[in-house]
Amino acid sequence: MCGIVGYIGKADAPTVLINGLRRLEYRGYDSAGIAILDEGRIVVSKAPGKVSVLNEQARSAWPAARFDRCTTGIAHTRWATHGPPTEVNAHPHLDQSGEIAMVHNGIIENYRSLRVRLEAKGHQFHSETDTEVLVHLIGEYDRGDLFQAVCDALHQVEGTFGIAVLSAREPGKIITARRGSPIIIGVGDGETIIASDAAAILAHTQRVIYLDDNDIAVVTAESVDIRDLHNIPVTREIAELDMDAAAAGKGGFDHFMLKEIHEQPDSLGNAIRGRLDFNQGSSVLAGMGTSQRELAELRRVVLIGCGTSLYAGLVGEFAFEDLADIHAEVQQAAEFRYRNPILGSRDLVIAISQSGETADTLAAVREAKQKGAFVMSLCNVVGSTIARETGRGVYLHAGPEISVASTKAFTCQVAVLLMMALKLGRGRRFSRDDGMRFAKEIENTPALVGRVIQQNARIAEIAAAYAHHEHAFFIGRGPMYPVAMEGALKLKEISYIHAEGFHAAELKHGPIALLVQGTPIIAIACDIPGKSKTLGNIEECRARGARILGIVTEGDDEAAASMDDFITIPRCHPLVATIPAVVALQLLAYHIARLRGCEIDQPRNLAKSVTVE
Ligand code: AGP
Repeated sequence: MCGIVGYIGKADAPTVLINGLRRLEYRGYDSAGIAILDEGRIVVSKAPGKVSVLNEQARSAWPAARFDRCTTGIAHTRWATHGPPTEVNAHPHLDQSGEIAMVHNGIIENYRSLRVRLEAKGHQFHSETDTEVLVHLIGEYDRGDLFQAVCDALHQVEGTFGIAVLSAREPGKIITARRGSPIIIGVGDGETIIASDAAAILAHTQRVIYLDDNDIAVVTAESVDIRDLHNIPVTREIAELDMDAAAAGKGGFDHFMLKEIHEQPDSLGNAIRGRLDFNQGSSVLAGMGTSQRELAELRRVVLIGCGTSLYAGLVGEFAFEDLADIHAEVQQAAEFRYRNPILGSRDLVIAISQSGETADTLAAVREAKQKGAFVMSLCNVVGSTIARETGRGVYLHAGPEISVASTKAFTCQVAVLLMMALKLGRGRRFSRDDGMRFAKEIENTPALVGRVIQQNARIAEIAAAYAHHEHAFFIGRGPMYPVAMEGALKLKEISYIHAEGFHAAELKHGPIALLVQGTPIIAIACDIPGKSKTLGNIEECRARGARILGIVTEGDDEAAASMDDFITIPRCHPLVATIPAVVALQLLAYHIARLRGCEIDQPRNLAKSVTVE
């Protein structure tokens, strides 16, 4: 996620700002920038890459004297959402006059229409970002009162923002505001720090003010004046930070994996926001770059990926066939690239990759393009190689995923695949009423996941009964079969337990020979078609001494009674249920690995992005 730091006070602002960005590096980013007020004008330095690159660039461009005397500035680490990670797209961005600078976290959903309006007034834009449009809008409204100009501009905005704005015309203050993206204000002694994360404030003060949505504050070195967007004063208490610097890097969680599991209600919200059309009962995925007519002419969907992304594709296979009556198949990317695939112009190939850099998936994309297929990507990293080489597709907007074990990317991949299937389906036999109902189910996924995360402490207790085994088998049917595969992958890659996923019916065709007294069976027995058969498979395992941990639907006492332990998920559509079900397995794997003392965020032998064959 992007990082914001603002400073106004007595020390040299560039050093404070750069150090603040360093404390936000853990969040993942791909470019950085800084803007300072220096003798009545705004000076900006921006660079793709690390904060250290920015620091060297700024120090070489600005003599030491300028560093010392500057007391006001803003800075940003960018995790690209609109436009690749280049210097021109990096924040801060300037308005048309060059006298107002802004940094921004969040997504301005209506930035395109705002940009057209401003271009008609003669505004010229240099970047591809939504942020630059917002600061130009502020400049357009500025008639000598920056606070009012920011209010007026934010009233035009649809989407989320956390911003810090400074103006050469009004030195000695920074305007900051938030909606959906955190802003914290650190109240120091003769200095004030603004940040998107407490980690950047800890070195200066423990006294902080948390802005609420639609708060806007005028910040000086000595004061913080908070109002709402209608200029009505608002009171926010000063709180004491209880976070130490070490914990701050993970938002207070022990591991990035646990943090990213807990982020899933938000990351799903970001992946879904603005992409469901409740009027048509469909989805709005502009990045697919296709008309309904083009989609209606497709004859097959081929989903390619590796690892967790491959398993997301397996859920997608069920979704495309169930919702769009179209043949769908999943191909392991490494196999696909060498098997001389039979493809044509009416085949839609979807490359699924969190990093957008996986070598096997990239090569599969190139092979699919060579065969003339209609290729698009489903990536999390904006401007990644696979995203750029497919030239069309849908970004996850899940935020940077730092832990090697993929969690929020998987659930966002599934959510986007469900929206893609819905879009295709509505161009075929899926009715508007069915589409509206399904869109509502997708919209509810953040709340469904929240209900599972609330069981975190209970799942940690259950994990203790499974942490000392060296083998574990995951079973599921229908769309829960890929969830079983993903659950097994999570457990094996962070706990080093030999975990395998099987179709529930497959056990008796061989794997059941492996069962001994106490072997853990993790059975996904949600109340979806095939549940009774899965309960039968569970009895076959119990008859051979297995210990059963079930993922069951809330209120399904019959299924719960079949288990030695169980975790519940809310009742929802079988395809949607894959999302809360996998979150239960993510938490189970995490707590088992923690109990085994494993290095959870960087497991042995693994890389976050496999850029080699
Ligand atoms: C999942 O937890 C692993 N980190 C791994 O299987 C990963 O999903 C796979 O390497 C694919 O990565 P990608 O999504 O970035 O292409």
